[in-house]
Amino acid sequence: MAATRYDAVVVGSGLAGLTSTLSLAQSGLKVALVEKTDKLGGNSIKASSGINGAPTRFQEPGDSVELFAQDTMKSGKGRSKQELVNVLANNSADAVHWLSDECGVDLSAVAQLGGHSFARTHRGKGSLPPGFAIVSALMKKIEGADNVDVLKKTTFKGFRKHSDFTADGIEVEDGEKNRRTLLANNIILATGGYSADFTSSSLLRRYRPDLVHLPSTNGQQTTGDGQKIAELHLDADLIDMDAIQIHPTGFVQLKNEETINSKWKFLCGELIRAIGGILLSPNTGARFVNELTTRDNVTEGVFQHCANDNGHAVCIIAVSEEDYIKAKPHIDFYMSQNLMFKGDAKDVTTKLAAIASGRLAPEKIEQGLRQYNEAIGNDDLGRPSFGNPFGTQFYYGFVTPVLHFTMGGVSINDKAQILTKSGKQMDNVFAIGEVSGGLHGGNRLGGSSLLECVVFGRKVAQQISVLY
Ligand code: FAD
Ligand code: SIN
Repeated sequence: MAATRYDAVVVGSGLAGLTSTLSLAQSGLKVALVEKTDKLGGNSIKASSGINGAPTRFQEPGDSVELFAQDTMKSGKGRSKQELVNVLANNSADAVHWLSDECGVDLSAVAQLGGHSFARTHRGKGSLPPGFAIVSALMKKIEGADNVDVLKKTTFKGFRKHSDFTADGIEVEDGEKNRRTLLANNIILATGGYSADFTSSSLLRRYRPDLVHLPSTNGQQTTGDGQKIAELHLDADLIDMDAIQIHPTGFVQLKNEETINSKWKFLCGELIRAIGGILLSPNTGARFVNELTTRDNVTEGVFQHCANDNGHAVCIIAVSEEDYIKAKPHIDFYMSQNLMFKGDAKDVTTKLAAIASGRLAPEKIEQGLRQYNEAIGNDDLGRPSFGNPFGTQFYYGFVTPVLHFTMGGVSINDKAQILTKSGKQMDNVFAIGEVSGGLHGGNRLGGSSLLECVVFGRKVAQQISVLY
C-alpha cells in the first residue's frame, strides 16, 4: 500500500503548530501534526499574561498598528527585521478577533505590559490563564477534524530533502525508537525555542555559556531540536542566537529546600507588575527600577540591586490588597503553590531570611512601601502607570531572573520560508513561532510570542491553501 502523502506536516503542537494545523484543516487539507511529548500545547499552554493586538475592539481607543510596530522595533534594539515586524503588527488585531470570534476564546481584559506605550495585551476575564484558554480551544477544534492525524510521542529527526530548495517529507521516531518517513508537500517547523536546552549539544552552551547556570520557566522539551536539525539538514541560517530573554520574575517556591533551589521555576507573570505590583530590593527594602520598563532593563536592575552573598539575585514582589482583585485567579493559584503569601513587612523579612543571606529589618520594607505610596503619579524611577497604595497587609513573593524565551532561531522571510546560509529560500519549508528568529531582535515584548504564533501560523496556512 502506498504511504500517505500529506498536504502538510506540522512539527510541534504549541500555539504556532496548532494554529497552522487548524487553519489548514479548515481549508480541507490533509495534515499530520507531530509532537514528541505525550501532550499537546508546548510552552504555549503555560502562557500567563496574554496576547497582543492593536487596535482591537477590546482596547480603549487610540492605539494603532504604527504604535505597536514602533514599540516592537524599539524593544528589539535595532535587531528586529522590519518586514517581519510589519507582518506581526498589521495582522495583530485580526489574530485577536479570530481567536475570539472563530475559536470562542474570551480576550476581553486588556493590560499594559512593560515596554508597551498602550494597554494591548489581551486575556480573559475569567479564571482560565490565557495560554490554557487559547490552546485548549484550538485543540478541541482539531480533535473534531477528520483530516488531521495527531501523532503524539513522535519525534522529528530530520528532513527528507528533495532538491536544494524543497523537501518532500520528514523522518520521525516513535516511543519504541522505530523510524519512519512522513511524506508531505509542505513542512511547517513549529518546535519552539531552546530555553531548556541543557543537553550535550546545547544551543545555550554554544551561544550563551554565561547563562547556562540560570533556572528556566520552560518545559523540559524545549531543547532547540528544530534549530539544530534545520541547520544540519537544510543549511538553514540561524539568526540572533545569542539573544536570550531573561525574565526578571521567576518564583522561588517556598515549599522545601529542593523547590527553593530548583532549576525549573514557575513564572510570575508580568501581569502582576502590570496591575500594580512593585519590586523591592532584599538588601535595602526600596524599589530600584521602573517595573514597567522592558524586561531586559528590569532584569538588569534585579542583577544590579538584589544580589545576595550566595551569588543569587532574588527580589521581593509586592501587590496591594486592592490590586489583588485585578489578578485574583493568578494570585490565588500562586498562593496555593507556596509562591505568594499574604502578610505584613515582618512576615516578608522572616521568609526572606530563609532563602537569602543577610537580614533585612521589617522597617525597611515599610519604608519602601511608604516611598512607593508617595511616588504614585510622580515616580523618580519613571513608572508610567500605578496601582493602589499599600497598607499594612499585602500580597508578596520572592522572584529571581530566569531563562524564558529565545529571540534567535531559524532565519525566515516575510512568508516564513526558511532562509539558508547562502541566502536562498526553502520553497515549501516554513518556520513559525519561537523556532524562528529575526522578529523580536534583541528583546521581545511581553504578549508578542503568542501573537507571532497565531499571525504566522495563519499566514503560512493561507499561503499553502491557495495552492490547492
Ligand atoms: P511551544 O509552545 O514551545 O511548542 C513547541 C512544541 O514542539 C512542544 O510541544 C514540543 O514538545 C514540540 N517539539 C519540540 N521538538 C520536537 C521534535 N523534535 N519533534 C516533535 N515535536 C517537538 N508569550 C506570550 O505572548 N504571552 C504570555 O503570556 C506568555 N507567557 C508565558 C509563560 C510561560 C511560563 C512561558 C514558558 C512562556 C510564555 N510565553 C508567553 C512565551 C510563549 O508561550 C512561547 O514562546 C510560545 O508559546 C511558543 O510557542 P511555539 O508554538 O513556538 O512553541
Ligand atoms: C509573562 O506572563 O510575564 C510572560 C509574558 C510573555 O512572555 O510574553
